[in-house]
Amino acid sequence: MGKLIGILTGGGDCPGLNPAIRGAVMRAKDHGYECVGLVEGWRGLVEGKTMPLTTASVAEIVSKGGTVLGTSRTNPFKKEGAVEKCLDNFKKLKLDALIACGGEDTLGVAARLYKEHKVNVVGVPKTMDNDLSATDYTFGFDTATTIAVDAAERLKDTGRSHRRIMVLEVMGRHAGWVALYTAIASAADWVCLPEEPVDVKAMCANLKRAHAEKNVAIVVCSEAIDIPGKAAGKEELDEFGHMLLKKRGVGEQIAEIIEKETKIETRSAVIGHIQRGGSPTLFDRILGTRVGVKAADLVSEGKFGQMVALRGDAVLGVSLEEATSKLKTVTPEWLKFAKIFFK
Ligand code: F6P
Repeated sequence: MGKLIGILTGGGDCPGLNPAIRGAVMRAKDHGYECVGLVEGWRGLVEGKTMPLTTASVAEIVSKGGTVLGTSRTNPFKKEGAVEKCLDNFKKLKLDALIACGGEDTLGVAARLYKEHKVNVVGVPKTMDNDLSATDYTFGFDTATTIAVDAAERLKDTGRSHRRIMVLEVMGRHAGWVALYTAIASAADWVCLPEEPVDVKAMCANLKRAHAEKNVAIVVCSEAIDIPGKAAGKEELDEFGHMLLKKRGVGEQIAEIIEKETKIETRSAVIGHIQRGGSPTLFDRILGTRVGVKAADLVSEGKFGQMVALRGDAVLGVSLEEATSKLKTVTPEWLKFAKIFFK
């Protein structure tokens, strides 16, 4: 057998993972490598669970949502003996290299495996949250936000019929990119971002004005915002120490505040995981494919400990450690830009 690359996808899935897998497998072949899939993220390497990945099996997955490899939020560094199992299985499976597709958590594990155990690993950035600092965009974001814009426009239709204010809660974790892009692109009337406190007075004044003009007003609300006047409670954490945001219900809480302040009937809707499903947009198909191809190039060049990044129109390798050290949240420049529309 020739040289072998293991490919895994970890963390929350997002549209664009299958194009990335396809790109990596097809390019790996050009470099004389075969590929094997490690199923369900790092769990696949911990348990040695694999599935075949051939150019034939990935030929048509470019348009498919989700990930054909499955995923999980397994963190080998949090489980007794799991890192040793990863190292052991890397040898047993006769892997020459690993391509890990993930967000800050999955790639954080990749960075540590490279730094602390010299594992030949290359990272591919994915996340609908678009919160990885070393790359301009991550695939998954474009599709997720396009779906959210559609949802906002649908809410506007029903809201207008009923003369209501509508609140749309979107995912995005501690970065407000999804909410901000959705709000601007759907011509919403307000956006609530985790990067800044909600100004209830300004928001309600603007909503009343918009509602008087259009018979409807819409607010896009990011899932991790702090609710004004509410002390932070104890939150449930995942294996990576992140807050499980699913139980917070911030959209509903913001809707209650708005209704009380404006005296206008208000409803909320949570789009949740619908944002992560479905066929990737053109942008995500192309970006996913490009970063997958580049990951295979980096492997063939022996450039381990790197992550593929999009900078302008170029895809290039950057240090995995650097790429996972800081979260990319909405910048002051973007907050200023948002004020043009939400004031
Ligand atoms: O990180 C991607 C993401 O979709 C976040 O926006 C969201 O908070 C989280 O994953 C949801 O995770 P899960 O699928 O585990 O509920």
